Parts: sequence; structure tokens; C-alpha cells
Amino acid sequence: MAERTATRYVFGTAFEREEERLALGEALWDPGTFERLAALGAGPGWRCLEVGAGRGSVAGWLAERGAAVTAVDLDTARLDRLRARGVAIRRLDVTRDDLPESTYDLVHARLVMQHVGDRAGAVARMVRALRPGGHLVLEDTDTASLFSHADGLFHPEVKRAAYAVMTAAGYHPRCGLLDVGLAEEAGLADVRADGRAEVVRGGTAAGRWFALWLEHLRPNMLALGSVSEVDIDRAVADLADPRHTWLSQVMITVTGRKAAAP
Ligand SMILES: C[S@@+](CC[C@H](N)C(=O)[O-])C[C@H]1O[C@@H](n2cnc3c(N)ncnc32)[C@H](O)[C@@H]1O
Repeated sequence: MAERTATRYVFGTAFEREEERLALGEALWDPGTFERLAALGAGPGWRCLEVGAGRGSVAGWLAERGAAVTAVDLDTARLDRLRARGVAIRRLDVTRDDLPESTYDLVHARLVMQHVGDRAGAVARMVRALRPGGHLVLEDTDTASLFSHADGLFHPEVKRAAYAVMTAAGYHPRCGLLDVGLAEEAGLADVRADGRAEVVRGGTAAGRWFALWLEHLRPNMLALGSVSEVDIDRAVADLADPRHTWLSQVMITVTGRKAAAP
């Protein structure tokens, strides 16, 4: 039997501005996600499973379009308000817990696979949850482009320290690209992938998402010892400065279909 270790989610640690950080991430990435899910036809009559739903913007949007939606996460405290909008909420770990089988027209997970240990196992569970012909949509980032700046790379030592903390907790900084192989190896048909990136200006709402990312990781970065408070303060100040623009990560969307029953 496979060993069942506790899931470590790097942002599962206490941070008083986590709700705000999640909301800023939604504002940055939702338009591209909604465009792609709408293009698949997600809407009335669809049964949808939103995995690692966070504070639930995608689940809420699918419900507004008339889909029957279940939202699952390790921590469902931020999702409770969606019950009033007809969304079913379940607390579960997608690497360990069973999902209903052959049920959903769409299973979507954004910024989730990059954090989990057993990615192939999680994808296999999500594929089993699809009805034949249903769509799996995985969205994860590739971080190679992050903090590309007109003057070179923005605060490379801080970027390195942040990703060292995340990688130690099981995160994969190139997961967006890994998702292509995961979808193919899970036997999905019509696997397609695209990427989108944002040019972010310091001091904007989008810029604050990056600053709060560093603030959440600050204690663990300091514990690692490769950067100081001053290094992190400088990076956070530059992220708040409207004279700076930088490139985000690339958000890679991978879609594939479960083969229809013969
Ligand atoms: C970075 S947040 C992304 C939230 C949301 N998908 C979004 O894009 O706005 C990652 C979410 O995945 C959840 N998560 C992480 N590991 C998980 C797991 N093994 N099973 C279920 N949810 C998980 C976290 O609790 C968190 O809410």
C-alpha cells in the first residue's frame, strides 16, 4: 500500500493577508481562465469539479453560468459563502481522497498541481472523475520568465530564495510544462496547451500579488538564510514602485478529453 504522508501546502501557514493574496491572484488570472473555460462550452447542463478552489472565483463563475459545481480544497473555510450560490463544497486532499467516478463534464485545477507531491496520482483521480468525453483543464505556471525586467532580472536572489522555500515543500517551478506530459500519460485525447503572461506594473493590484507572495514566504526565506530582511524589503519596495514593470510567470493551460466509451 502506498505510504500516506500528510500533505504540506506551502501557503497553508498562517498569514493574515492570505485572503487578499488569493483575491489578487484571482483578479490577475481569472480573465484568461474564464475565456478558456467558456471556449470549451462550460455552462448550463455541465457538471463541474473545481479542485483546490481557493477562495472560489472559478467555482462561482461556473455556477453563475448555470453549471452544477462542486468545489473541493484542503481548506474550505473560504468557500462556505459559495453554498448560497448553489455550489457544493467538500474538504479533501486530491492526492489521497476519492472523488466520484465518471461524473463530471469538466474538472479544473489552477495553481494546484504545482503544489502537490503525487501529481500523476492526483491527475489519475481527476481523470477517473470525468465522464467519457469530459474535459480536464490544468493550469500551472512556468516561473522561468518571472521578474524579467528591462534592467535584467529583478531581485534574482529573492526569487531564488522564495522558490527554494516552495520547492522544499514539494512545489515544482516548471509544473505548467509538466502538466502536458501528465495529461498525455493519463491517457487523455486531444491534449493541447497554451501559455499567457502579464506585464505587471509596480504599485498596482497585480503588483501587490507578487509583494504578498514574498510577505507570506518571508519567515521561511529568512530561516533559509540566503536573503536578509533588507533584501526582501528592497524587493517589496520595488514591487510597489510604479516606475518598474516586470514579466509574470507564464500560466500554462493544458486541456484534454477523456475518450468516449466505445
Ligand atoms: C495557490 S491556491 C490556488 C487557488 C485557486 N485554484 C486559484 O487559482 O485562485 C492553491 C489551492 O490549492 C489547495 N490545495 C493544495 N494542495 C491541495 C490538495 N492536495 N488537495 C486539495 N487542495 C489542495 C490549497 O488549499 C489552495 O486553496
